[in-house]
Order: sequence, then structure tokens, then C-alpha cells
Amino acid sequence: MEERVYITHNVQETEALGERLASELWDVPALALYGGLGMGKTAFTRGLARGFGCTIQASSPTYTIVNEYPGKRKICHFDMYRLGDADALYDIGWEDYLESGALCVTEWSENVPGVFPEGTAEVRFSRIDDETREIKVRLC
Ligand SMILES: Nc1ncnc2c1ncn2[C@@H]1O[C@H](COP(=O)(O)OP(=O)(O)OP(=O)(O)O)[C@@H](O)[C@H]1O
Ligand SMILES: [Mg+2]
Repeated sequence: MEERVYITHNVQETEALGERLASELWDVPALALYGGLGMGKTAFTRGLARGFGCTIQASSPTYTIVNEYPGKRKICHFDMYRLGDADALYDIGWEDYLESGALCVTEWSENVPGVFPEGTAEVRFSRIDDETREIKVRLC
């Protein structure tokens, strides 16, 4: 287990961090993102998807629950904000997404504790001030 702490000062730096970490997250089954509204989870995922060679720009799946971005390795980008609980996630085929070999990136992971397989990496976002974020990355 390894934890690292980063500070970003604007949305571009958060995107760049996601892009830079792509190589280290290449093999993880899932990436659980934690942190409240407007913390930069979608921005981080946008950079990560670029780092995975995805050509579709990542955008918030708040209403669609999941967006898929084909790339060198596919990313399935989930937003659990509107999902009631883990049962609803299994209903839309969570296990199939995991088994597909795509990297499953989930915003609002707080809402679905217990669904993440062994080896899941975690990123926790918190607000220092309007433009500054602390971003803690935990690789297993
Ligand atoms: N250091 C920073 N990193 C990322 N975003 C920042 C930063 N500073 C300010 N922002 C602003 O915060 C917002 C982050 O939006 P983003 O959609 O990425 O958040 P989110 O965590 O996905 O929110 P939600 O919970 O609503 O999905 C943007 O409006 C962005 O401009
Ligand atoms: Mg978001």
C-alpha cells in the first residue's frame, strides 16, 4: 500500500495529474474517487482518460450513471451520485463492467461501499480553498 498527497491550484493541474498517473493506474481493476461536489473528480478523470489514449472527452455521467471511453484500455466512468445504493449498481451490471477488463472509475464512491474488488486504487479530494485541492492517491 502506498499513499501520496498532491496539491493542485486549478482545474488544469488536476487534469494533468490524472493524465500523469495513467501509467501507474494502468493495471488496476477500479479507481474509487471520494470527495464532495465540485472537488475535481470529473476533471481528474478527463486527464486520466487522455492518459489512457481515449479520444472521447470525459464528461460527468451524473444523469447517465456510466459513460464509456474506448482507448488503449477502455475506461467506464461511473457517477454514483444519483444511485441509491450498491444494489442499483449491481442491477446495471457492475460485475460485467469489472469483468470486461475496462478500468471502472467511480465518482461518489461513498454511496456504494463494499462494491470494489481487491486492488482498487483510491483517490480522495478535499478543498483547501476555492482553487486549491488536496488529492490523496492510494495504490494497493
Ligand atoms: N484545483 C482544482 N482542481 C479541479 N477543479 C478546480 C480546482 N480549483 C477550482 N476548480 C473548479 O472546481 C470544479 C470541479 O468540477 P468537477 O466537475 O471536476 O468536480 P466533481 O468533483 O466532479 O464534482 P461533482 O461531485 O459535481 O461531480 C470546476 O468548476 C473547476 O473549475
Ligand atoms: Mg463529477
